[in-house]
Amino acid sequence: MRGHLILIEGLDRSGKTTQTQILHNAIPSSSLIKFPDRSTNIGTIINQYLTDHNFSLSDQAAHLLFSANRWELAASIEDQLQAGHTVIMDRYIYSGIAYSLAKSETSSSPEMASVEWLYAPDRGLPKPDVTIFLTLDIAEMAARKSWGEERYEQTKFQEVVKRCFLKVLDPHADPSVVIVDVNKLGIDEVASKIWTVVEERQLHQQTEVPLARLS
Ligand code: ADP
Ligand code: TMP
Ligand code: MG
Repeated sequence: MRGHLILIEGLDRSGKTTQTQILHNAIPSSSLIKFPDRSTNIGTIINQYLTDHNFSLSDQAAHLLFSANRWELAASIEDQLQAGHTVIMDRYIYSGIAYSLAKSETSSSPEMASVEWLYAPDRGLPKPDVTIFLTLDIAEMAARKSWGEERYEQTKFQEVVKRCFLKVLDPHADPSVVIVDVNKLGIDEVASKIWTVVEERQLHQQTEVPLARLS
């Protein structure tokens, strides 16, 4: 028996951190993992990349560092699942693909336009049992607490990222994907929509189904 792997994805300020924390509080002995994990060696470089606009990295190198950051934690995620804990993640590979793919509209690197190239370094990582994508209008998102100073926090770019997320997250092609519309919903209402998904799929319980890999 193992725990389930639950992923919450979304744009900046869509409510991921709020909702993953609520879920963590609701599921006993669950763990919460946030990507990027800025506390690791690779996470330190990622943090510098996100916060220092003068810190230069090629798009390809940045993409691979985000993936390497996931691989740094992969064994620990798997150990926790196998020990029977539910693992809740705040962002994962779909953020990796969507933010890089969004760069292809302004970058001349052909790799950023290739979903195949972008997906490749993450193959073999644990596959979430569910990916809940929180979607809301950019206008509503923009009305939330002001943007920080980080690299991707610009309304125009977020619009492109949203389109890219919806390109790679298709509930028809992959039934583990659930798109949750959070427009005009308060924190508790969003939490209750997410809980409905968790309960319907029994994701707060353990399972005998072997853990899948991203393939
Ligand atoms: P993310 O982790 O996706 O960037 P956060 O959970 O940090 O988003 O939320 C961003 C901001 O929006 C925070 O100030 C949070 O309190 C607020 N917020 C989160 N969910 C909602 C909601 N459903 N309605 C209004 N404000 C919200
Ligand atoms: P955060 O605001 O949730 O800490 O995320 C930091 C930024 O990193 C956010 O703008 C999304 C971006 N990101 C990527 O570009 N690639 C990735 O693989 C991940 C996990 C995040
Ligand atoms: Mg957050």
